[in-house]
Amino acid sequence: MEQLKGLILSGGAGTRLRPITHTSAKQLVPVANKPVLFYGIEALVEAGITEIGIIIAPETGDEIREAAGDGSGFGASITYIEQEAPLGLAHALLMAEAFLGQSPFVMYLGDNLLRNGLVELVATFRESEPEALILLTPVPDASSYGVAELDGDRVVKLVEKPEDPPSDLALVGVYMFGPEIFAAARSIEPSARGELEITDAIDALIEGGKRVEPHIVRGWWKDTGRLEDMLEANRLVLEDLESRSDGELIDSKVEGRVVIEAGAKLERTTVRGPAIIGAGAHISDSYVGPYTAIDRDVIIAGSEIEHSIVLAGSRIRDLPARMEASLLGKGVTVERSLGMPKTLRFLVGDHADIGIP
Ligand code: DAU
Repeated sequence: MEQLKGLILSGGAGTRLRPITHTSAKQLVPVANKPVLFYGIEALVEAGITEIGIIIAPETGDEIREAAGDGSGFGASITYIEQEAPLGLAHALLMAEAFLGQSPFVMYLGDNLLRNGLVELVATFRESEPEALILLTPVPDASSYGVAELDGDRVVKLVEKPEDPPSDLALVGVYMFGPEIFAAARSIEPSARGELEITDAIDALIEGGKRVEPHIVRGWWKDTGRLEDMLEANRLVLEDLESRSDGELIDSKVEGRVVIEAGAKLERTTVRGPAIIGAGAHISDSYVGPYTAIDRDVIIAGSEIEHSIVLAGSRIRDLPARMEASLLGKGVTVERSLGMPKTLRFLVGDHADIGIP
């Protein structure tokens, strides 16, 4: 089989992660302080795939270009392909037809994370050379995903977000294809949500008698499209971290798996891992609990925070209760307003989500 190419889908609107995605691409929200998208690029490179196309949306494309660059930082060569509107995964794939040509390729949804990477899957694909190899995993709520109906080892049918799922096997957002997928993508009509669904295109391959092989994923998989999933992905990645402390600790205590980046400063603070504290963060008189990722240049004073993701440059000060299960965007300020007992003061953007005891 000839050299595989990679296609990462990093367009779309990211409506389920608003307001973060009003100003930023959802694929750039960090998990353990690294943009979700970078895990996908790294997984492709690790599997020997270095010629990578990235689908971008007009609104967030520049930010993605700036973050991933020409790919040399990853040992890859990246080509950006603009999709004018989020018209579906199969539509995005058709936008990349000139880039992919006749090469077999891996299509990777830019908001997905796969614990065990792609090395083994790519080897299986090369060996058996099907027209498509799809990844499946059992989930409790299959109706939020593409769902497969199997007969033994054979895929009988695929349906996108069915109300009444034929099985609990969800399609994971990583697919391997030969060039027949383009004709299949051209043969389908938009779905009820107005998108050209990749699920329907693969189903068209099956209908046309082509070989579509299923592979059940081992190890965890996360689609980070919603807040709960993002926090869960953060938790899972943090659990695999190797402890390292390059920051400055003054009267502070660090327990468990914790990474403290160079230039971070902790004063009279306890960090209980798994957790990561980014470069230039300054945390004083505080407690940072398990499953927390504090990005660069964040300031935390007199506060407790746990199971949360805090993006770069935010400030958290004198919170009267522990902050938990939260995702703070870039440059957010959360602090106790003194002198105004029993009042709450906000300046928040559209679609913000605030919980008060
Ligand atoms: O995560 C797995 C699921 O991904 C599968 O089970 C479903 O079968 C599949 O349709 C897809 O469902 P989602 O509704 O979660 O896809 P989403 O709209 O979140 O898009 C996935 C990625 O592709 C995301 O990074 C945005 C990007 N995208 C999406 C669309 C619709 C594009 O680049 N262009 C698009 O037109």
